[in-house]
Amino acid sequence: MARSVSRRSFIQSAGLATAVGTAAGVATAAHAAEPAGNVKIIGLACSPRKGKTTAQALGICLEAAKAVAADRIEVELIELAEMEIPGSPCAGIPLKEGQKDDFPELAAKLADSKVGGIIVGSPVYFGSMTYLCKALLDRCIALRMRQFALSGKVGGVVAVGGVRNGGQELTIQGIQAALLCQEMIVVGDGRPTGHWGATVWNNGKDDISQDEFGVVTLKNLGRRVAEVALGRGPKK
Ligand SMILES: Cc1cc2nc3c(=O)[nH]c(=O)nc-3n(C[C@H](O)[C@H](O)[C@H](O)COP(=O)(O)O)c2cc1C
Repeated sequence: MARSVSRRSFIQSAGLATAVGTAAGVATAAHAAEPAGNVKIIGLACSPRKGKTTAQALGICLEAAKAVAADRIEVELIELAEMEIPGSPCAGIPLKEGQKDDFPELAAKLADSKVGGIIVGSPVYFGSMTYLCKALLDRCIALRMRQFALSGKVGGVVAVGGVRNGGQELTIQGIQAALLCQEMIVVGDGRPTGHWGATVWNNGKDDISQDEFGVVTLKNLGRRVAEVALGRGPKK
């Protein structure tokens, strides 16, 4: 990869030079200091189905994050189902003529210095993340090459499966690996559940509210991301 695709071609093909340049620089400087003022936490729903279980799960998670400090935390849910993010530009392949690409705008949003936490939510597809999630994470190589623009932001992961143990933890680990490569601060669901992240079960009726354990992990993950993003430890 390194031999055939230059650093410049990565950035050019990602179309990021202008969109993220300023935001990335600010983000790097901001992370050197203790966070002050408001902190934004973004939930990224990586299902092709808008408003379904992954989006619902992230809603619960973001609500718990906001509850940590309602006056300082702003939350936003972004659904990839509403966007076009082609994966191939990550490897320096130019967009086809007329092909839409929402990545530069999303990348600028994620790299903004106000963003203290990013919670990635994916349905489990055959024990792994969805194609939308993978395309986004692969495209984020452009942010890594722009001075690690996501460095220092807190990362949490939610996985929703159609069965209780359908590969949620595998899915979480795959996503966490990509976040670690961005120098993000990866956290799991906070205590008392305290494991890899939020593991959620869709009961086949596109309803996660019956999954008591999963909902608890969502709340604990949202709280943990917010606490770390604010520079706070857990309550004793
Ligand atoms: C192609 C495909 C593969 C799937 N593979 C799994 C799987 O391996 N394990 C699992 O628990 N659920 C699996 N599911 C079920 C989805 O993870 C589940 O329905 C999830 O709630 C969908 O998220 P959404 O409602 O946000 O779209 C699969 C669904 C699809 C469409």
